[in-house]
Amino acid sequence: MKKDFLEVTDFTTEEIISTFELASKMKSKPSDYYEALRYKTLALIFEKPSLRTRTTFDVGIQQLGGFSIYLSPAEINLGKRESVYDVAKNLERMVDAIMVRTFGHNIVEDMAKFAKIPIINGLTDYAHPCQAMADFFTIQEVKGTIKNLKIVYIGDGNNVAHSLMAAAGRLGAHIVVATPKGFEPNLNAYRNAVEAGKETGAKIEVINDPIEAVKNADVVYTDVWASMGQESEAEKRKKIFLPYQVNAKLFSLAKPDAIFMHCLPAHRGEEVTDEVIDSPNSVVFQEAENRLHVQKAILYKLMKKD
Ligand code: CP
Ligand code: NVA
Repeated sequence: MKKDFLEVTDFTTEEIISTFELASKMKSKPSDYYEALRYKTLALIFEKPSLRTRTTFDVGIQQLGGFSIYLSPAEINLGKRESVYDVAKNLERMVDAIMVRTFGHNIVEDMAKFAKIPIINGLTDYAHPCQAMADFFTIQEVKGTIKNLKIVYIGDGNNVAHSLMAAAGRLGAHIVVATPKGFEPNLNAYRNAVEAGKETGAKIEVINDPIEAVKNADVVYTDVWASMGQESEAEKRKKIFLPYQVNAKLFSLAKPDAIFMHCLPAHRGEEVTDEVIDSPNSVVFQEAENRLHVQKAILYKLMKKD
């Protein structure tokens, strides 16, 4: 097992499956794990805002018997007040693992290289692996399977899209990513997912037509059109992305029992309308809750040393 979790492909297919099995046990009987990481400490470094990631990591480590310390952007100011190297060399002597949410993916890679302790990616501009793990766990929970489904991601080819493709690759899933021209996923992320999919038979498709993409979908997933750090592009993007809005008309092209997913926060009325996100087909809050269970399993896998 690798020391760190920076992208879904850092786990092998077997490691992902056993993480899901553990998450399932932790979800059904949390009290069995109250002592699992007794007195272990997790640092939470945030350079961007968060509701779900902060809450689920904080609650998660406490439910495993450990503690967390939240380090806000103002406190650390990674790479500015102090170098990434110095932060890593300090914290490895004080805590047992570090979760980092930041901008450049190279920052988490550097932290992982410099620190002896596990580094967990809590979102970078490039990847959001804990999210994709919770998403595929949710798909399996709701649909009973991951294979033989058409999983469609519509919108910006961003960090969430990259990690969903990586997870699809490792788990042998069929994913179709539909983005406007010029907003396709990063080529390396695509290649990484295709490479992972060679062993599992995954099918990773990137297209530009949202209507074609959503036809017969089992899962329809979207995310904000402008991610954290891209606020100045938000207005321009609204026009470009309008045909990619997941509204009742577009969603009706999916299978009748298709589920709607979104990592949240959602910009209601932009990438998704109320009628879709509030419909019985929407699993967004189950998906958000599963961040807790799946991340507890990830923490256990990386931090448990007997
Ligand atoms: N989905 C997600 O990571 O949410 P937060 O930005 O609130 O942590
Ligand atoms: N793509 C979004 C995900 C938020 C959880 C962002 O990076 O802002």
